[in-house]
Amino acid sequence: MTQEDNASQQMFVGEPPAWALRRPKGLAQAVYDVLGAPLRMVLLPDHVNERLHLTSLRAERLSMVLPRLEGRVLDIGAGDNMLVKLHRRRQGPEAADSVGLDVVDWGGGCTIVPDCKSLPFPDGSFDTVTFVACLNHIPERREALAEAYRVLRPGGKVVITMIGRFIGKVGHMLWWYSEDKHRDVDEHEEMGMNPGEIESLLKTAGFGRLVRHSFVYDMNHMFVAQKPE
Ligand SMILES: C[S@@+](CC[C@H](N)C(=O)[O-])C[C@H]1O[C@@H](n2cnc3c(N)ncnc32)[C@H](O)[C@@H]1O
Repeated sequence: MTQEDNASQQMFVGEPPAWALRRPKGLAQAVYDVLGAPLRMVLLPDHVNERLHLTSLRAERLSMVLPRLEGRVLDIGAGDNMLVKLHRRRQGPEAADSVGLDVVDWGGGCTIVPDCKSLPFPDGSFDTVTFVACLNHIPERREALAEAYRVLRPGGKVVITMIGRFIGKVGHMLWWYSEDKHRDVDEHEEMGMNPGEIESLLKTAGFGRLVRHSFVYDMNHMFVAQKPE
């Protein structure tokens, strides 16, 4: 079995249910999610949590990022391409040309590239570029952000989600089901990055108007920044 065969079998687990993406959460769901935190945050993979009506971590990320997306989206490190599929469905024709991109084929129809040093898209061709739970896994992250800047139109947004180094290191030791267990891991990957590191990378790449939002009990962060007009 090749790395890709193995990858698509493990990761392609279908869509999160609509209730898991609805915000704000109802009180009963919020309380149930707190009680089930050890299951949904450590012990069980996303699709199993969703079967138990616990909000999965992927649903937490998707529900944060989806409302920030505008127009044509490039999702880098897209995994099974779920963000792009949901965005297309929500926004219709203006989102139709959105693209998911990855270095591994997880079976979701992404554009597959060897790395993110040079992306196969013209300057200014996207309205939003996203890096959801992946910038730490991209060894060439500086070049990837420079490319995100290049392919964004002036005024376009970059959206990043990231867990911190400590939680990420402990988490990746415990998450027996995570995608890095099903592919080769580069020695320059990190298991998480602290907010200051992400903010510094964004500034170095030229982005401005940086805003940070915390979610999942302050353990995860979303960064939204803009390419100047
Ligand atoms: C934790 S997963 C996140 C997947 C998806 N964005 C999500 O939120 O479910 C990290 C992703 O980064 C991808 N990845 C690893 N190295 C990469 C690289 N150099 N360039 C782009 N993507 C990369 C992996 O293949 C994987 O799909």
